[in-house]
Amino acid sequence: MAERVVLAYSGGLDTSVGIGWLKDATGKEVVALAVDVGQGGEDMDDIRQRALDCGAVESIVVDAKDEFAADYLMPALKANAMYQKKYPLVSALSRPVIARHLAITARNLGADSVAHGCTGKGNDQVRFEAAIAALAPELTSVAPVRDLALTRDKAIIYAEEHNLPIRQSAKNPYSIDKNVWGRAVETGFLEDPWNPPIEDLYEYTDNPDVLRDADEVVITFTEGIPTAIDGRALSPLAIIEELNILAGRQGVGRIDVVEDRLVGIKSREVYEAPAATALIEAHEALEALTLERDLARYKRGVEAEWSNLVYDGLWYSGLKRSLDVFIDDTQRYVSGDIRLRMHGGRAVVTGQKSEQSLYDFDLATYDTGDTFDQSLSKGFIELWSLPSRISARRDAASK
Ligand code: ARG
Repeated sequence: MAERVVLAYSGGLDTSVGIGWLKDATGKEVVALAVDVGQGGEDMDDIRQRALDCGAVESIVVDAKDEFAADYLMPALKANAMYQKKYPLVSALSRPVIARHLAITARNLGADSVAHGCTGKGNDQVRFEAAIAALAPELTSVAPVRDLALTRDKAIIYAEEHNLPIRQSAKNPYSIDKNVWGRAVETGFLEDPWNPPIEDLYEYTDNPDVLRDADEVVITFTEGIPTAIDGRALSPLAIIEELNILAGRQGVGRIDVVEDRLVGIKSREVYEAPAATALIEAHEALEALTLERDLARYKRGVEAEWSNLVYDGLWYSGLKRSLDVFIDDTQRYVSGDIRLRMHGGRAVVTGQKSEQSLYDFDLATYDTGDTFDQSLSKGFIELWSLPSRISARRDAASK
């Protein structure tokens, strides 16, 4: 039996041509695997059939939406994950779940390798291959676009010559990746960072300048996980999908950054992530109410480290796994309700409550009857500032 390679298949031009291209270059049978992470658009059955029409020996579709939401996006939410404080890791989070299914499928079908359609210039190649290395070290990774010189022009010619059933969509100048956590748009005129994004780029969000009545929702969290909207219990996936619509029509979650890629390139990226933005805003507010000061402060450092690891393709690393244990432990009391008002491109927290709240009205109030003994502060400050006073004297004496 011929060796087999499992290709992460999107249904687009590159991976469709990649099927025949891989077969010609390696002599292996190609199994196409399309993983649904909520990218929307085409029917997954059409995508499955297209892979067969392009020469795959087998074509598999996996609906990983719930798994993606529960096992990848919820940990990201608990970590308030943002790369460079701005990017909620949309693509970085989907690669590990796609890679997991590549590895499972390869093992089930006795394939010795996997393939993906990434170029050699981005982060996604690193994420796929580092995840495969961690999950199934016996597999090798092939990237037809990068390793087998499959350029876009060659792909178009190949598709025409072989009569492949690929819709030649009007040439889209952008490179787009999307899933339920958001949408990434790069290349085209955006490559000049001085060019402002145009309305045309966006799909998940409406123009925030076109004002409509505000939307208000109450999100219930249970140990860091959103479990209900306005009192309706919903799965993580359903909550994300609903907030994508609500926050999206208020234009929440548009992001425009110059980003530091792992491979050393700075690149201009536009994202839209309405649900991710709203949920992280709400989750951070609930943590402000329920985490003690030192823990909250330390966690912010862990969040940045976690985000860097995930961005850099190290989802399945020992350090990331251990940080998850820490982060999970911090979520023990992160339960309660957050009221969010979404309007004009912003999601703003307007109310917070929790049975586990550390907020003590009697301590905080400036009204009569407060229980905070202000006389204690005098001695506290005396000791708190003692090192400053001693070193200031030393500094003055040694001038
Ligand atoms: N720069 C982002 C990241 O590395 C988005 C990548 C999007 N991928 C794509 N093929 N357009 O996470």
